Amino acid sequence: MGAVRLYLTAVAITLFAVTCAVQGCPPSDRAALLAFKSALHESKHGIFNSWVGTDCCHNWKGISCDQQSRRVADINLRGESEDPIYEKSHRTGYMTGTISPAICRLTRLSSVTIADWKGITGEIPKCITTLPFLRILDLIGNRISGEIPAGIGRLHRLTVLNFADNLISGPIPASLTNLSSLMHLDLRNNKISGELPRDFGRLGMLSRALLSRNLITGTIPSSISQIYRLADLDLSLNQLSGPIPATIGKMAVLATLNLDCNKISGRIPPSLIVSAISNLNLSRNSLSGLIPDVFGPRSYFTAIDLSFNSLRGDIPKSIISASYIGHLDLSHNHLCGRIPAGSPFDHLEASSFSYNDCLCGKPLKTC
Ligand SMILES: *[C@@H]1O[C@H](CO)[C@@H](O)[C@H](O)[C@H]1NC(C)=O
Ligand SMILES: *[C@@H]1O[C@H](CO)[C@@H](O)[C@H](O)[C@H]1NC(C)=O
Repeated sequence: MGAVRLYLTAVAITLFAVTCAVQGCPPSDRAALLAFKSALHESKHGIFNSWVGTDCCHNWKGISCDQQSRRVADINLRGESEDPIYEKSHRTGYMTGTISPAICRLTRLSSVTIADWKGITGEIPKCITTLPFLRILDLIGNRISGEIPAGIGRLHRLTVLNFADNLISGPIPASLTNLSSLMHLDLRNNKISGELPRDFGRLGMLSRALLSRNLITGTIPSSISQIYRLADLDLSLNQLSGPIPATIGKMAVLATLNLDCNKISGRIPPSLIVSAISNLNLSRNSLSGLIPDVFGPRSYFTAIDLSFNSLRGDIPKSIISASYIGHLDLSHNHLCGRIPAGSPFDHLEASSFSYNDCLCGKPLKTC
């Protein structure tokens, strides 16, 4: 009898707890969301029409809450998505306004995606660096200006930082290299200036570092080659100068290295030719000297583009021992001599070799 009563009490307590738990979000989170919403304007899809009622955890488009705490955990607002709402309207999203600092009152936020709205302006609220649980911060495809908050390095749980396709200016903050959990850094197509932090290599979890189309100056920090997991490094279309650190060729999983359209000088490190890199673009720099004669079975390139540099000498004989060369561009250099004959070259066209000093042989004119 006593056991049954105890059991029923336990059931009642559980039911009470469950009932409590499914109640709405905290009024303070709801108020913060409404303040966030009031700084934005979106009329095409009526994204915010669903932001009504007291329970912001239930059916508010783009909002989800932590199951236990019922605090707002995710803001996920995408201007372009596979969502049927968008397909039906045949329109891509458009939103104006700014990201209100009220977002920083949502202290349990783990992910913030406000992406591809094309019309959101203003700055990234500095207080965003005080959100201790933030793992994803994705603001790609807006018109956000101002600088990256200096305290960004405080977000020690951050794994994804994506500010690509905005109007962000100023330097990469020194604190960025404190983001020891960061896996994906995308700052492409902004107006970021200054140099890359010398200790960039402290970003030990990084697998993609995409910084192309900015105004970055200075040299490539050799510490980058300490990033064991780095698979994709894109520094193209900047104003980088100085040499390519030879240690980059020793990186275990680096598959794509894009340094095209910079002011990089010096020689091509031989290590790059026998590295894990399969996609190498060094086009439009000031590289000089010879193409290293170290190709071998470990040289596997889906694309290798060395065009528009000041390379001289001949095309090294070893190149025919590469295991694969899909696309090759050596045009606009000062190369001379006979083009080696062999399997990596059978499918290449004259444009791969044009505008050199005196290259000859198939697919160019006979020597
Ligand atoms: C990086 O983190 C350390 C330890 O938390 C701190 O002492 C240092 O000031 C931070 N560096 C920057 C540039 O914020
Ligand atoms: C290499 O970069 C140049 C300049 O940005 C670009 O035009 C070219 O298409 C790239 N090459 C390859 C193979 O992607």
